Amino acid sequence: MSLSVIILAAGQGTRMCSSLPKVLHPLAGKSLLEHVVLTAQRLNARQIHIVYGYGGNAVPTQLKHINVHWVEQAEQLGTGHAVAQAMPFVASGDKVLILYGDVPLISADTLQRLLAVADNAVGLLTMHQNDATGYGRILRNSQNQVLRIIEEKDASTAERQVTEINTGILAVDAERLRTWVTALQTDNAQGEFYLTDIIAMAARDNVAINTVAPASTIEAIGVNNKAQLAELERHYQRAQAHQLMIRGVTLSDPARFDLRGELITGSDVFIDANVIFEGKVTLGNRVRIGPNVWIRNARIGDDVEIHANCVIEDSAIEAGCRIGPFARIRPETRLAENVHIGNFVEVKKSVIGAGSKINHLSYVGDTTVGKNVNIGAGTITCNYDGVNKHRTIIGDDVFVGSDTQLVAPVEIGSGATIGAGSTITSNAPADKLTLTRVKQQTLDDWERPKKK
Ligand code: UD1
Ligand code: CA
Repeated sequence: MSLSVIILAAGQGTRMCSSLPKVLHPLAGKSLLEHVVLTAQRLNARQIHIVYGYGGNAVPTQLKHINVHWVEQAEQLGTGHAVAQAMPFVASGDKVLILYGDVPLISADTLQRLLAVADNAVGLLTMHQNDATGYGRILRNSQNQVLRIIEEKDASTAERQVTEINTGILAVDAERLRTWVTALQTDNAQGEFYLTDIIAMAARDNVAINTVAPASTIEAIGVNNKAQLAELERHYQRAQAHQLMIRGVTLSDPARFDLRGELITGSDVFIDANVIFEGKVTLGNRVRIGPNVWIRNARIGDDVEIHANCVIEDSAIEAGCRIGPFARIRPETRLAENVHIGNFVEVKKSVIGAGSKINHLSYVGDTTVGKNVNIGAGTITCNYDGVNKHRTIIGDDVFVGSDTQLVAPVEIGSGATIGAGSTITSNAPADKLTLTRVKQQTLDDWERPKKK
């Protein structure tokens, strides 16, 4: 039997107190909805339908890179109404799995177990919660068979004592689902078409209702507010940190670790507290990263040391480099082997040759630096004339004295020395000393002005 997945994602999520549709809020760098889609894709479904509504095209636009079928629910009249919008696109004879765009950590394993009990039956994912506030409750008869689901707002005081809750996730064959959602009514406290009412219809039609519990309750927790979002984020981060530690990475504190993307690591990697990785980051063997570092889309070679408080983005850092503390490596930068970038140094769109050092308080942008170059403290490449960007080219074995400005476009020949405090506006020849400052003089007849 082929599988069709319907993901409900049309609600606003009022309790998020945000203009962003709830399902677009990020968890570990991906939207809640994308987490659900990625899990659904592992089930080999014939098709994944996403019911969207609140926020108009914002949801399909943000997820346009994924291959799913979008179904609009223009007015959000309830979960049953949402499913009904997708049914015309679901083939008869399919099994249908209903997922929620705001329940991001559901696992493929749990869903497989649910699908396995849904042959000629309803598979319903339920679990016990001591605090069941807000959830629909599962009502069973004395033979322990499920009779119906009662929403909290419709429940009596006795029914609210029930701790078995509806996660919302269920599996059922398409034809029965089609019949049942067509028959839904809105005679309830919220005046909505409740999907949950199909359970009573199944019981009435003598269709078995088989319940399955998720492996962990965290899988079925929905995000309704920012506190729940943070709870799931921490849980997810702890799990990722655990995986890395099992693979041999040393984390000084797994509770202060964030990975919003993919991290590939070599052996004997050390990561201090409050390091954030985004996008795709690769760390070579024996890489050491100090506290409070942010790295996005970077390849870091073997034996690299990144000291505290650095920001590195879209760059390649080759083996043996030493960076920071307080360095910023901006996009399109490549540091060759054994480069040293020190404190308060910003490098942008530049290639720095092997063994070169930029150790203090400098800006190097749109620049090619050769091998074994020493750039003195406070050096600035003036790459922008107010309209266009220009490149600076520095040969091998150059020494640039402190507090120098290199006004691009400009080229410094290999082996050149630039005197401290120079403003270089035209090319400096190889192997020569070039300097632009005036000769030091002392005025014997000068006096300090006196107060009048
Ligand atoms: C629903 C269940 C409840 C269950 C809970 C689990 C119903 C009537 N109740 O309640 O039994 O315990 O989920 O979290 O189903 N949505 C739409 N269109 C709509 C309404 C909702 O797409 O018209 C989507 C929402 O975006 C959300 C999901 O359906 O992803 C659940 O809707 P929500 O309003 O959060 O339902 P709950 O009140 O939490
Ligand atoms: Ca909900």
